[in-house]
Amino acid sequence: MEMDKLVSLCKRRGFLFQSSEIYGGLNGFWDYGPLGVELKRNVKDAWWRDMVTGHDDLAAPAGAPEPYEMTGLDCTIIMHPQVWKCSGHYDLFHDYMVDCRESKRRYRHDQVRGRWVAYQGQRIFVATTAETDHEVEDVTARALKFFKLRTKEAAELVWDETWQTLPQVTEVAQVLGPDAKVLGTLTAPREFNLMFKTFVGALSGEEGAAFLRPETAQGIFVNFKNVLDSSRVRVPFGIAQVGKSFRNEITPRNFTFRSREFEQMEIEFFCHPQSSAEWYRYWRDRRMKWYLDLGLSSERLRLREHHQEELSHYSTGTADIEYAFPFLPPGEYGELEGIAHRGDFDLRSHMEGKLDPKTRPLALEMGPDGKPRWRGSGKDLSYRDDLTNERYVPHVIEPSAGADRATLAFLCEAYCEDQAPDENGQMQTRVVMKLHPRIAPLKAAVFPLVKKDGMPEIAQDIYRALKKHFNVFYDEKGAIGRRYRRQDEAGTPYCITVDSQTLQDQTVTIRDRDSLQQWRVKVDDCVSEIRQRIG
Ligand code: GAP
Repeated sequence: MEMDKLVSLCKRRGFLFQSSEIYGGLNGFWDYGPLGVELKRNVKDAWWRDMVTGHDDLAAPAGAPEPYEMTGLDCTIIMHPQVWKCSGHYDLFHDYMVDCRESKRRYRHDQVRGRWVAYQGQRIFVATTAETDHEVEDVTARALKFFKLRTKEAAELVWDETWQTLPQVTEVAQVLGPDAKVLGTLTAPREFNLMFKTFVGALSGEEGAAFLRPETAQGIFVNFKNVLDSSRVRVPFGIAQVGKSFRNEITPRNFTFRSREFEQMEIEFFCHPQSSAEWYRYWRDRRMKWYLDLGLSSERLRLREHHQEELSHYSTGTADIEYAFPFLPPGEYGELEGIAHRGDFDLRSHMEGKLDPKTRPLALEMGPDGKPRWRGSGKDLSYRDDLTNERYVPHVIEPSAGADRATLAFLCEAYCEDQAPDENGQMQTRVVMKLHPRIAPLKAAVFPLVKKDGMPEIAQDIYRALKKHFNVFYDEKGAIGRRYRRQDEAGTPYCITVDSQTLQDQTVTIRDRDSLQQWRVKVDDCVSEIRQRIG
């Protein structure tokens, strides 16, 4: 599937728009249109239902070591600045960036790719930040320009087979920056903190400085004791949160994949240290199954365990659920969700203060004055098991998913072109979004075949009966074939049509979006039929 086709469908049909588009757009920010908002809401609702409200606290689900409880939380985007100091984000949440002295542009070091090319004995590295589909075109055009060649002379350029990222290139003087005309204009990489800074109240100096949260997780850790004290949960239990996060990404790209404002769906699962490895495996497999159940194909989805050297300093196990997004080169995958065994790192950090990543076992990081670099809350975040009287700091398993990335993966998976007959029986190419019925923005559309003979009135009654239960759409405009096509592009799984036979036997046709099969049901059975089919 070509990504351009999906991007254009998303705009045409109101799934996704560029933020502030009438002013030229704002890079890394996206708005969800009328269909998109329903789709993303359904993704988040499915997650919340499957992980939290639908969870049976009394029985152990398949693969879980024992029964556990799940509860939710909704905390603020701006939190006490000390939260980010103790969590490590203030000191460590950065990417490396490079600046171009010529174009004055800034790039994320590891996201600039390029290829070596030689012409008449000179070898240069042509760097690019173009989307994957346009990389070859971009580097070729810029190499031709650099060597003052015409398009028809392109065969004289001798390209290296492999693409490299900037960190792999040591001969920086030979690099042609992504927007540069001369060589060697990129600076050495520098750290760039990804947190958005803001000011609270009237204080504009460092005193009033605060940050937009770069993850929802910390809100859960700092409320651990509140949840314990206010509800009757016992370890093991999980706290879930869905909400906005903000990261000042240096090079947002690939549609919504890397945005600067996005939503996360995170769980912090608190368990006994001794059973934490089992819980880690349970959550890893459980989360993988969730994506498969909602329609991502197993050929495009993979679970990748991190190698020892990839693990964060505190983690004894991390796995990413990754999807082969169509904008990535063949064989490459993009992260949908990370499942991390975080040990007691987070609760201890908020009790004691920022921990030193270089120490084993982890110890407080000290400043040059010999005092803790960032002091914790001093509050006791340990847990006492009232049955055994054991007191310990629970270990944490964190399944951390992106609502926008999941939505994008479902959109990519759903996009399909097939052949279907039009109203004259001629086969035509049809664009259809094969979204899982649970997440489809509209569950059904209701049409009168023609706008007369009482058909619109019957169709409107069916629409109103369905509307009480599901998001459905009524349409009486245009040829029936065209109405079907519009719903196919919206991903609506069922279309219900009132026709002349309805007037005789009170039945309507229901058309299945994917198989194109049609069958008749009684008008009065429409609600139960749709309910049973969407599950
Ligand atoms: N609390 C752990 C945490 O935040 P992460 O891997 O940085 O871990 C978790 O983020 C998920 O959030 C990612 O797997 C991804 O789905 C989503 N995410 C992260 N950065 C994103 C961005 N810039 N745009 C869209 N989604 C993003």
